[in-house]
Amino acid sequence: MSISMNLDGRIAVVTGASSGIGAATAEHLASLGARVALVARRADRLDDLAARIADGGGRALVLAADVTDAAALREAAGRVRSEWGPAGLLFNNAGVMLPAPVEQLAADQWRHQIDLNVTGLMNAVEAFLPQLVESAAANGVADLVNTSSILAQNVLPGFAVYSATKAYVTHLSRHLRAELGGKDVRVSAIEPGIVGTELQDHVTDQGVRAWLEGSREVMEWLTPQDVAATVGFLASLPPRVNLQQVTIMPTRQAS
Ligand SMILES: NC(=O)c1ccc[n+]([C@@H]2O[C@H](COP(=O)([O-])OP(=O)(O)OC[C@H]3O[C@@H](n4cnc5c(N)ncnc54)[C@H](OP(=O)(O)O)[C@@H]3O)[C@@H](O)[C@H]2O)c1
Repeated sequence: MSISMNLDGRIAVVTGASSGIGAATAEHLASLGARVALVARRADRLDDLAARIADGGGRALVLAADVTDAAALREAAGRVRSEWGPAGLLFNNAGVMLPAPVEQLAADQWRHQIDLNVTGLMNAVEAFLPQLVESAAANGVADLVNTSSILAQNVLPGFAVYSATKAYVTHLSRHLRAELGGKDVRVSAIEPGIVGTELQDHVTDQGVRAWLEGSREVMEWLTPQDVAATVGFLASLPPRVNLQQVTIMPTRQAS
């Protein structure tokens, strides 16, 4: 199998594009030739990223939107279609991790994670799936890449709700792959271990924060660019090849 890392002509949408994995992936996809629509709430960050992409010779479209707002995402999808045509790659990546022992009953944080990691992800599927199917019919392949986590597989006290949202993402991805493969839409779940991003800054539980700091002393965390390169690889594979699930871990992270 030969792989040409060239996404010329592809129209990509990245949710969670204002920082971390999403920002790095948007930049990487643009460097491979894709036009990239940037979705997140912080418009100023998206403007800066779009300017960097343009400086590098790429094309970006800023779509400031909250993915928990289904109507806003439908509107964003309409903008992509009217400006560029149907999207052929959705990196469905916006998410938040708010771990805490379950007995703290941090129900607001439970709801936040479910609203964003599950419902927000589904809102993006609703808004962009018709375009992926249309693009696959026209171009022979399209990609839906969902950001899950190694915690979709593993059990770690304190992470119950986050893990459960990511188990949803991985299992949903398997089902969607089976349903959409016949239409040449590839579906993949990416399951990263620890990646150094703003994700860790949102953690409020002091025990988990201390655990994260400790882990940084014994291993080199992944960078957002490591995950970005993986997404670029998935999208560059020949149309017949669909990596269903990719687990990407820091070498020294055991589980
Ligand atoms: N970092 C890790 O160790 C790790 C490991 C496994 C999986 N992941 C997953 O990777 C994904 C990306 O996280 P990250 O590590 O890159 O963290 P991050 O730097 O905090 O990025 C999260 C992104 O999601 C966006 N976002 C948050 N709420 C949103 C909303 N309501 N609507 C639209 N966008 C929203 C944020 O932008 P705005 O605030 O501007 O909206 C930001 O761009 C997440 O799904 C996370 O669960 C991360």
